[in-house]
Amino acid sequence: MKVVVIGGTGLIGSKLVKKLRDLGHEAVAASPNTGVNSVTGEGLADALKGASVVVDVTNSPSWEDAAVLKFFETSTRNLLASEAAAGVRHHVALSVVGTERLLQSGFFRAKLAQENLIKASSIPYTIIRATQFFEFVKPIADFSTVGNQVRLPPALFQPMAADDVASAVARIATNSPVKGTVEIGGPEQFRLNELARRHLAALRDPREVISDPHAGYYGIPVSERALLPDKGARLGETRFDDWLIQAAKQVATARTQRA
Ligand SMILES: NC(=O)c1ccc[n+]([C@@H]2O[C@H](COP(=O)([O-])OP(=O)(O)OC[C@H]3O[C@@H](n4cnc5c(N)ncnc54)[C@H](OP(=O)(O)O)[C@@H]3O)[C@@H](O)[C@H]2O)c1
Repeated sequence: MKVVVIGGTGLIGSKLVKKLRDLGHEAVAASPNTGVNSVTGEGLADALKGASVVVDVTNSPSWEDAAVLKFFETSTRNLLASEAAAGVRHHVALSVVGTERLLQSGFFRAKLAQENLIKASSIPYTIIRATQFFEFVKPIADFSTVGNQVRLPPALFQPMAADDVASAVARIATNSPVKGTVEIGGPEQFRLNELARRHLAALRDPREVISDPHAGYYGIPVSERALLPDKGARLGETRFDDWLIQAAKQVATARTQRA
């Protein structure tokens, strides 16, 4: 089966392309770096020739409110039109658990707009909503840093390894369209502030993490359960501590090589 991965050079996309190839599929990594641009339309028609499935794991280069909305709306419209012309039978898109509870953020308004365009199109689809990736915990802490302090709310969340996200997307993309939304998440629940503290400590990062119920998640208020998936979510296997040991080793190796 030919599967075109739009955003196939990104964190999830590059893992997904490898997994699809390991399963014996023809997986094409499509992104500006490989000459395919879903916003301008460059290279799309050629990339989609003979494709059965298109997986959209793009992300916007800018998260500014107007720019991110324009990115996801334009890109999704172009993809769906090109897929209709090419006879694609399954459109899969990666979105975020809790999107409708996070609409004070322009990023999540853009993700909801993306989902709504997909639901209104004629292409059979599956929307996959994932919880935060383990790889995203440090960027969340970085965003919430002032001086040497990281202020984060004690909201519950259930993050997952990017590798488990890619495995779930590969499985879903190579099955029949659900014509709806499926949720995926990690195997354990944590408090956001507590997990950031553990992550920074393992990296020997000297910043202090402070639990602050009024602090935002990426700048917006979140209720205690806003980031949690529904009960029926499919759960990844990788535990945070096991992932963290590997991540900390990689950071230590990079430090040694730089020294
Ligand atoms: N971070 C999280 O915790 C989380 C949780 C749930 C869901 N998600 C969703 O997962 C998706 C993928 O995230 P990620 O972290 O894997 O993203 P990423 O590493 O930032 O990769 C983004 C990809 O989008 C491509 N791209 C950018 N502009 C493009 C364009 N005009 N046309 C085609 N491709 C373009 C990039 O291509 P180049 O390399 O060529 O620039 C890259 O391959 C996002 O939609 C995000 O909302 C994220």
